[in-house]
Amino acid sequence: MRKKVLVTSALPYANGPLHIGHIAGAYLPADIYTRFKRLKGDDVIHICGTDEHGVAITIAAEKAGKSPREIVDYYYEEIKRGFERLGIAFDNFSRTSKEIHHENSQKFFLRVYEKGYIYKKELEQLYCPHCKRFLPDRYVVGTCPYCGYENARGDQCEKCGRWLEPTELINPRCAICGSTPIIKETYHYYFKLSEFSEPLREWLESKTHWKENVRRTALSWIRDGLRDRAITRDLEWGVKVPLPEAEGKVLYVWFDAPIGYISSTMEWAINRGKPDEWKEWWMNPDVQLVHFIGKDNIVFHALIWPAMLMAHGDYILPSDIPANEFMNLMGDKLSTSRGWAIWVNEFLDTFPADYLRYGVAAILPETSDADFNYYDFQTRINSELADNLGNFINRTLAFIKKYLDGRVPDPQNLGDYDTETLEKVKELANEMSNYIEQFEFRKALWKLMEISSLGNRYFDRKAPWSTRKTDIEETKRTLYVCESIVRSLSTFMEPYLPFSAEKVRKMLNLSGKLSWEEAMRPDPEKGRELGKVEILYKKLDDDVIELEVRKLMERAGKKAPEKEEKKEEKGMAEEKEVQIITYEEFSKMDIRIAKILEAEKIEGTDKLLKLKIDLGTEQRTLVAGIAHQYSPEEVVGKYIPVIANLKPRKMRGVTSQGMMLAAVTEDGKIALLHPNQDVPPGTKVS
Ligand code: 2FM
Ligand code: ZN
Repeated sequence: MRKKVLVTSALPYANGPLHIGHIAGAYLPADIYTRFKRLKGDDVIHICGTDEHGVAITIAAEKAGKSPREIVDYYYEEIKRGFERLGIAFDNFSRTSKEIHHENSQKFFLRVYEKGYIYKKELEQLYCPHCKRFLPDRYVVGTCPYCGYENARGDQCEKCGRWLEPTELINPRCAICGSTPIIKETYHYYFKLSEFSEPLREWLESKTHWKENVRRTALSWIRDGLRDRAITRDLEWGVKVPLPEAEGKVLYVWFDAPIGYISSTMEWAINRGKPDEWKEWWMNPDVQLVHFIGKDNIVFHALIWPAMLMAHGDYILPSDIPANEFMNLMGDKLSTSRGWAIWVNEFLDTFPADYLRYGVAAILPETSDADFNYYDFQTRINSELADNLGNFINRTLAFIKKYLDGRVPDPQNLGDYDTETLEKVKELANEMSNYIEQFEFRKALWKLMEISSLGNRYFDRKAPWSTRKTDIEETKRTLYVCESIVRSLSTFMEPYLPFSAEKVRKMLNLSGKLSWEEAMRPDPEKGRELGKVEILYKKLDDDVIELEVRKLMERAGKKAPEKEEKKEEKGMAEEKEVQIITYEEFSKMDIRIAKILEAEKIEGTDKLLKLKIDLGTEQRTLVAGIAHQYSPEEVVGKYIPVIANLKPRKMRGVTSQGMMLAAVTEDGKIALLHPNQDVPPGTKVS
């Protein structure tokens, strides 16, 4: 049955440009999911917009000497442009500063207020006598009472993640002028979050299919006790509290922002000329509501927002909240203020959008934080996109162009290997589909790449370049099967690589997209003429990557990594000039035989294995760049030579206490070395 799926992505604050962390957290997974669901035939809409209220905006404006309006107008355009260039396709991209959203949020507030879930409370708040105003949220900084971090913000400590009240901070200071605030009486409206502890707990406990991090985080908050939350602020900028006595108060940004999902859907419906259609989504229990977010937004989406929805009563609750962890950059935490970030629009001035989509999708922080490394990115693009996927598509189509009259061949019948290969493609596509359904986008991408590897292996084994001289019927069979796989790939690629999928369709001369079902039974039109064939993915040269790394380092005032370090990180063999060393120099090396006890792949890399080794007198951890050739199972139990006194080095967060020695051929193939008779672990090699 055709399902209705309402996908939302966290509304980004309109206070800065989009960076790679945003993309990895919510937007790319949401876009992959939406595109996939659409190919599957589901009725899906993807809703988003900019979050234009709150102190994140007003502080950015004050720092830039601009008005909040100027800031949000500028960044709305900038962010929207980034999404468009990256192919993040929303059905509607709204703004929370729009009239429709203000009205909708006020109605929401009043409804919850009238139902008795919002009350007014007097309280003491920090006030800056110099700036002459109350200091909500990020307007105050100080020491976190939980972890001691000295620059904790009034709403949250960035270090330990605790949600704070400004008055909890030790040694508070005004974030604008640095003065010490005083305490002053004021009042705010509070949302009775505490009343929803039980319904939230029950609801969360039923979500056994959710990602563990989301459910666990939300349930632990409930266990710690939910407190009522102030949902208004003393600010000029924001949605005015719709009560006559609440002069000068606006809604807290986290109260109005999620309501923005509904307002944006309303705007979408109006733009389609069916103003009531949003109700078929938000008031329809058959709709699956999926919120894509980063992990810092879990508490708002998995607790406060559902409680708000329960309090309101007319709307559906989220069906799933797939939250991602964080994306680091070149081994360090992203920081926009330190310039340690990759900005989408800037990146896309140099690289095609699908390169960024691929580079990020391959390492999405789905289960733990991930790290974007320019050198790994280059390796991936060159060896995976260009040498595997692009190569299969290009060699197939170029061959048909050159030797088969540029038309889809019409073979008499298929052999066993041909049909088996097509069956295997279906199997892999089914696995890919299951992974996407479970929000395991990285694994799904691997299945896509397995399909093209399979195609390449098939092409190599069938050797059409040779059969074309001896057996044209066999050659036609081969290229018919290959064309059929390329056709399927044009659909399977679409969620991840929409721009190249479109290029492939053009090269195939297809009039439109094949649905997922059609791509499972591609049925090429025999005799159909192909379009113009062009190289799908160009490889990235070292100097392009070097330049990007240099730019990043300079901006952040860091030193570029040494060449040696980079090569080792890439796990690549490097030719060096041979130098003569003395025996003394050689004898400094402590080379020993070790037994591999355990091995596992290092997440987010395709070459690195983490090994636990036995050196006779001790056990150690090694990182070895062999995962592209050896599986963990293959190496466990093997005896290998190791330099035992090499200075420990950290790679991908794992400290390698030594280095494994192996034979490396000129083209990078690795052969493990083993002693030719039994020796105990720890035996010296001399
Ligand atoms: O963390 C953020 O960037 C927020 N602007 C996300 C808001 S998501 C939703 F609730 F609107
Ligand atoms: Zn001040």
